[in-house]
Amino acid sequence: MPAWLIQGGWRPAGYRARWNACCVPATNRLGDVNRVSRRAVLAGGLAASAASFDGIVPLLAANQAEQALKDVASARGIRYGSTAMASQLLAGDSFTDLLLREVAALVPENEMKWLHMSSMPFQSDYRVADCLVEFAAAHGLLLRGHNLLWYWSTPKWFRELADRKTARTAMLRRVTDMVTRYHGRIDSWDVVNEPVDGAGDRTDHLRADVFLKQIGPEYLSLAHMAARAADQDARLVLNECGVEYDTPDMDRKRAAVLELLENLRKRDVPVDALGIQAHLSARRYPFSEQKLRNYLKRAAAMGLEIQITELDCTDELAPADISERDRIVADEYRRFLDVVLDEPAVKIVMTWGLSDRYSWIVRHENNPEQRRRDGMEERPLPFDRDLQRKPAWYALAEAFTRAPTRERVSTREHSPAAEKFSSKRPDWIFAR
Ligand code: XIL
Repeated sequence: MPAWLIQGGWRPAGYRARWNACCVPATNRLGDVNRVSRRAVLAGGLAASAASFDGIVPLLAANQAEQALKDVASARGIRYGSTAMASQLLAGDSFTDLLLREVAALVPENEMKWLHMSSMPFQSDYRVADCLVEFAAAHGLLLRGHNLLWYWSTPKWFRELADRKTARTAMLRRVTDMVTRYHGRIDSWDVVNEPVDGAGDRTDHLRADVFLKQIGPEYLSLAHMAARAADQDARLVLNECGVEYDTPDMDRKRAAVLELLENLRKRDVPVDALGIQAHLSARRYPFSEQKLRNYLKRAAAMGLEIQITELDCTDELAPADISERDRIVADEYRRFLDVVLDEPAVKIVMTWGLSDRYSWIVRHENNPEQRRRDGMEERPLPFDRDLQRKPAWYALAEAFTRAPTRERVSTREHSPAAEKFSSKRPDWIFAR
């Protein structure tokens, strides 16, 4: 792996472990990922595991159990995709084959985050992000841009800027440069990730974060307008966490997100879609089908598309026994997806990873209270560490199968022939 890929993209200066109660990371420990052994995997495994999931498989027609998730989803007009890191695609193991088989859409896990791209004022290193854009284009994958602004992943130099005017210029430059560079290549941009605070006392419900402090509440609409100006056709998404369950906090968060969206619409701020992160947690919170349905309905009634952007599921409260645990996690996926996929405005489902081999939960970059006490490895994703399908895969496939068929949404052309980037294409993308 080239040194610049590690230095430029993975251990940015100023990236520190911090904790927060909601949906937050701690530290990016790529070292751990790279130490993962490259086991002999797959070798026909995709077809093999169906028989072990009694009571789950029969719901799928025989040919569906052999299909890829992207095909099961696409039969209903839904795009299924996953996050990946460039380093995972470079690891030279069969994960990339699995990814290309299963997904129709890709989202970079960290490589497009501002902190990961910029260690010096007004300068950005696009090389790793370019790699992933190239990879998506070369393989005809729809690409989500994650994200233009996120309080959690903002360069130190931006936090330290002393005056508002410079901060505003820096923010607009970041948005405009990113969206312009990848013009025509990104289907949807998470413009501001997690802008809402449901518990605060601000009437606009904005999180009291670095953007509010450095620029003021107009930062959100400015960012959306700059993104629209730079690419008329990219969908602009407001991506939020902490809205999936039935708790007083999440009640407030849902209400706050909807109110903010209504407000933005009234002021003609361009927003095309609501992103629901969907970091699920088995057995942790109560669930209300009705509340979730209402949330989706109200967003859809505003004319917004809805995207499930970061689906995964922690299993810290499930028993150690693997088959029991996998069943509980699959049930959590199923319960959530049956409700959200019933809403036709939901057009894209992305899982935050595909295999337990590469998950921020397994790397323990998420909330510490979501770790297993017994020290066993978590099993949050549709495929296990050895790239074998798990019950969660079948839960996704079944939920897609039960979903009403959507009208096809027009998507960006992701032609591998896009000239703009051809001179910079690194060889590894085409080595497969
Ligand atoms: C996470 C990545 O998965 C981690 O590797 C990184 O350490 C922190 O960020 N919500 C988001 C994502 O919007 O960007 C986060 O991704 C997970 C929570």
